[in-house]
Amino acid sequence: MTAILVSRAVFAQTLQRLRTHFEVDANEDDTIFSRAQLIQRLQGKAGVLTTGSERIDAQVLAACPQLRVVANMAVGYNNFDIAACTAAGVLATNTPDVLTETTADFGFALMMAAARRITESEHFLRRGEWKKWCYDMFTGSDVHGATLGILGMGRIGQGIARRGALGFGMTVIYHNRSRVAPEIERALNARYVDKAELLAQADHLVLVVPYSAQSHHAIGAAELAQMKPTATLTNVARGGIVDDVALAQALREGRIAAAALDVFEGEPTVHPDLLTVPNIVLTPHIASATGATRRAMAELAADNLIAALTGGTAPTPINAADLLRRA
Ligand code: DGY
Repeated sequence: MTAILVSRAVFAQTLQRLRTHFEVDANEDDTIFSRAQLIQRLQGKAGVLTTGSERIDAQVLAACPQLRVVANMAVGYNNFDIAACTAAGVLATNTPDVLTETTADFGFALMMAAARRITESEHFLRRGEWKKWCYDMFTGSDVHGATLGILGMGRIGQGIARRGALGFGMTVIYHNRSRVAPEIERALNARYVDKAELLAQADHLVLVVPYSAQSHHAIGAAELAQMKPTATLTNVARGGIVDDVALAQALREGRIAAAALDVFEGEPTVHPDLLTVPNIVLTPHIASATGATRRAMAELAADNLIAALTGGTAPTPINAADLLRRA
């Protein structure tokens, strides 16, 4: 029987289903494998179901020559070196679409929480500091009617734009590697702008851009300096897109009003500077975390493994076209 590794804990039903097709080495106690442990557990395995915490690169692939499919339970796949996978003849897959709306909901919620100072004021209340109502207590900035800036207008970016434009009467501006189709711009009432205009005009800037060498620290001190002092910044994409130290400093100095981060450079470690800033909402990478969506992600990752290792076509491949070209 073909052997696979499931590198982190997943739903029992997903494991059960995988076991009807494969000999499954499961990591039910959910240890985060070191690189050496991952390589060791991958010996003799044709496939692996990964999460963002396992890095699959040329070294791992060279040490695991039987590996044919790496199936990420995430839409983002910056933990995969795709060129190395293709060079090794390994199919890489991810879980797009099934998490789009859930992640867009969360991105919008974080943005609102930052704008309206929801967690900051809750902490104040829990500390017992609320003694009286006051006209300027925790005044934030409006979301309705404001200008929503989106960096990265993929599926999730469009979902957030739709919520802003249709639900909250926001003016939507966006910047992306390329413009989206005119009918999408029309439906979202969204205007393409360059990055400088995005930074300067957005009342609420939301980052939904994939992580890459090009997007590393796409928002650093220089970019934060171009934003309005009343603006908020929300990141539901990946850690490393924002320079966390520069952000903490900008928040402390009032150069922007507030921020909300679901992802962090070096997570699950969070830079201590961020932890002491009051005007920031911090959540532990849970944008796609509803029960239904996490199940759908696990099932789609399993669908990819089952199809690719039993002679079918993986539903959501990343590098299938590159592998064909290489063949
Ligand atoms: C994703 O799907 O990329 C989410 O960030 C979960 O890792």
